[in-house]
Amino acid sequence: MKVTLSAIKADIGSIGGHIKPSKKILETVENFVREEGLKKGLIIDFYIGYTGDDIALLFTHENGVGNEEVHELSWNAFMAGAEVAKQQGLYGAGQDLLKDAFSGNVRGLGPGIAEMEIEERPNEAFVVFAADKTEPGAFNLPLYLAFADPMYNSGLILSPHMAKGFTFTVMDVEHVECDRVIELHVPEDLYNLAALLRDNGRYVVAKITSRKSGEQAVAASTTRLRNIAGKYVGKDDPIMIVRVQKEFPATGEMLSAFSIGHYVAGFMRGSHNGPLMPVKLNTPTSFFDGPPIVSGAAFCVKEGKLTEPADVFDHPFWEWMRNIISWKAFEIRRQGFSGPAMLPYHDLEYGGIVERLKEVKDRFYDRK
Ligand code: 13P
Ligand code: 13P
Ligand code: MG
Ligand code: MG
Repeated sequence: MKVTLSAIKADIGSIGGHIKPSKKILETVENFVREEGLKKGLIIDFYIGYTGDDIALLFTHENGVGNEEVHELSWNAFMAGAEVAKQQGLYGAGQDLLKDAFSGNVRGLGPGIAEMEIEERPNEAFVVFAADKTEPGAFNLPLYLAFADPMYNSGLILSPHMAKGFTFTVMDVEHVECDRVIELHVPEDLYNLAALLRDNGRYVVAKITSRKSGEQAVAASTTRLRNIAGKYVGKDDPIMIVRVQKEFPATGEMLSAFSIGHYVAGFMRGSHNGPLMPVKLNTPTSFFDGPPIVSGAAFCVKEGKLTEPADVFDHPFWEWMRNIISWKAFEIRRQGFSGPAMLPYHDLEYGGIVERLKEVKDRFYDRK
């Protein structure tokens, strides 16, 4: 059976700053999806959860990728939640809903979206990763390590199902006129891939497919809010769907790539670098509006019906890892604004620092 998985996330307001959504807005969004999506037969099943201040929706349905009604369902559910956020006086109410009206597709309106249509395998397993206080390029390194590097995924040399490698579709997210993408085939394009994925702010993995089966393994969001809003309105907190097992990495091979707690852009005011910390589902944000966090909900799906999620980072191993990553966060914060602790000027260009630098510009003089 062909099934579409649509994972859509948005920040529509949160309690006490950019911390977590309120129970009431979560209930509002959930009830809306149940009444307007599930009961009316538009979707087969759904899951709702949060990561920091972002609400993630997962829908299963048979309407294909980019379906207007499904997108509209998510948009209207988020709008209903944002209305409650306003009533409750939540911070950043409606933050990621950047346009006034729905226009056929949520892409370009603010919410992040990852979607794929799949031919359901007899044992279809996949993971939805959602991150807060970072940007889509935060997934570049984990995807590279899990799908192209046998040092992190030894399954690439152990399993005949993955022996042919994968095709990465990488997007240049600075190109705003249209989607500019490139397809790179690993292993032979490995160095080209690394050369692009080095630059998380510009080149972002949008899709990965198996070269053996041609089946899609990964769909990731590539939304850049500042390209839509023209100014800083919060980070682009990404979401992605990763199919696992058989011709794809095993779940644990994918998770292993998150054990670095690599430094990514985001953190406080979206203006710093911090380590990406794997956290349990429904974890709020904290220290210095961070550190950047990622959650993972693993599912099996049969004829579109979802199991309950398995919380992939809820395990003693990750408790230990979180301590190490906390140390990394603390270490880089100790140097405050200096050097690599803060993002380069180019990435801050829509913020208040531009005004400040204008102000001091005229006070420079050429010493004779
Ligand atoms: P305010 O300047 O509105 O407090 O916003 C700052 C902020 O939200 C940084 O995360
Ligand atoms: P969000 O993008 O998660 O709303 O965070 C905004 C921010 O500036 C936090 O400091
Ligand atoms: Mg927010
Ligand atoms: Mg957020």
